[in-house]
Amino acid sequence: MTDIPRKIIPLADLRYASRIPAIPANLLAPTGLLSDTLGRPLRDLRISVTDRCNFRCNYCMPSEIFDKDYAFLPQSSLLSFEEITRLAKIFVAHGVEKIRLTGGEPLLRKHLEVLIGMLARLQTPQGKPLDITLTTNGSLLARKAQSLKDAGLKRVTVSLDALDDAIFRGMNDVDFPVANVLKGIDVAHQAGLAPVKINMVVKRGTNDSQILLLARHFRHSGAVLRFIEYMDVGATNGWRMDEVMPSSQVIERLQAEFPLAAIDPNYSGETAERWRYLDGGGEIGVISSVTQAFCGECNRARLSTEGKLFLCLFASQGHDLRALLRGNFADDQIAAAIGPIWQARSDRYSEIRAALPPDASAAGSAKRIEMSYIGG
Ligand code: GTP
Ligand code: 5AD
Ligand code: SF4
Ligand code: SF4
Repeated sequence: MTDIPRKIIPLADLRYASRIPAIPANLLAPTGLLSDTLGRPLRDLRISVTDRCNFRCNYCMPSEIFDKDYAFLPQSSLLSFEEITRLAKIFVAHGVEKIRLTGGEPLLRKHLEVLIGMLARLQTPQGKPLDITLTTNGSLLARKAQSLKDAGLKRVTVSLDALDDAIFRGMNDVDFPVANVLKGIDVAHQAGLAPVKINMVVKRGTNDSQILLLARHFRHSGAVLRFIEYMDVGATNGWRMDEVMPSSQVIERLQAEFPLAAIDPNYSGETAERWRYLDGGGEIGVISSVTQAFCGECNRARLSTEGKLFLCLFASQGHDLRALLRGNFADDQIAAAIGPIWQARSDRYSEIRAALPPDASAAGSAKRIEMSYIGG
């Protein structure tokens, strides 16, 4: 008997269900005007460039699960920079105006500035440059901010859950000092990656003592601090409603020390509700995905490290675009395959969950993607 050569598919690749999109017989060219079943346009593409991270934040990558035996994606599974740029160009033709690079920790991906340079050359159909940004834990930012800026990055968002060093080290679970992240934020600001946004995930009982400390620290600094409700994303963080601090309570605590006024969104579909300090100290935001779901205007698509398209942060099934990239299809064929996927989109997980009892999950038994895999 002769051996039949078989393609070996790494186990980590099969972690989440996916399907290979069909190429329609009729190749409709992108118009930039796609709309899903709820009338939502496609404007924001979040690209995860690695599923690895050097932190182990308990709400995202608990160290008991993401340990030395955890099967991260093998190098061969990752989209190359050329593949990412090729897909980004197709998404831009479909209406995307903003690209956010995420991880895991995106700055762990080697030569990321090369990818940023490639993406920075893309233009919208109206000839405008893209808004290119990045979410990072800040650990490598002091070293990399200037080269990222030089490559064409516009701004950065830094995750920072505490100012107190002991609490910060405990939350990142790798004993990383807060001073190094604060230094990264300063260097990013000086490099002109502005406005730097600071994302704090608030977990009641863990870091809510840090709300006012962080607010005082970043007032008058030009940075925009945003308080995020701890979400039931993924399946590993042991989420409980009693650890969520509703944004209304965050605002109450802040108001007690600093009078605030609500301000209008920057753009339709913005995740954060914006507020300003009445004394001119700048702006803050609250992101209330649990208590005030914002699916109604969600214009975000997510591309995983190995090229699967997800239509919601809480999805359990992706669309395998890498199979098309590596299957010798032309750009117009891939574009024509992506259009109907967005048009069929009906995801609105956070809204559905909000209508259920407090500790319930709307996900059913399907295995939901992890935030470390798909990014924020
Ligand atoms: P800007 O471009 O600066 O407005 O950033 P953004 O708010 O669009 O993006 P960012 O990645 O900073 O989002 C902040 C946080 O909001 C994330 O870390 C998530 O916790 C949450 N978030 C972002 N997008 C979504 C989403 O589509 N659904 C839900 N439920 N939460 C989201
Ligand atoms: N809830 C809310 N935000 C989360 N993030 C990761 N996990 C969660 C969660 N469970 C977000 C944080 C972090 C970014 C990388 O992902 O904002 O800054
Ligand atoms: Fe923490 Fe961000 Fe790393 Fe997740 S990806 S473990 S939130 S630093
Ligand atoms: Fe968008 Fe899904 Fe988040 Fe709702 S839960 S805002 S549909 S990503």
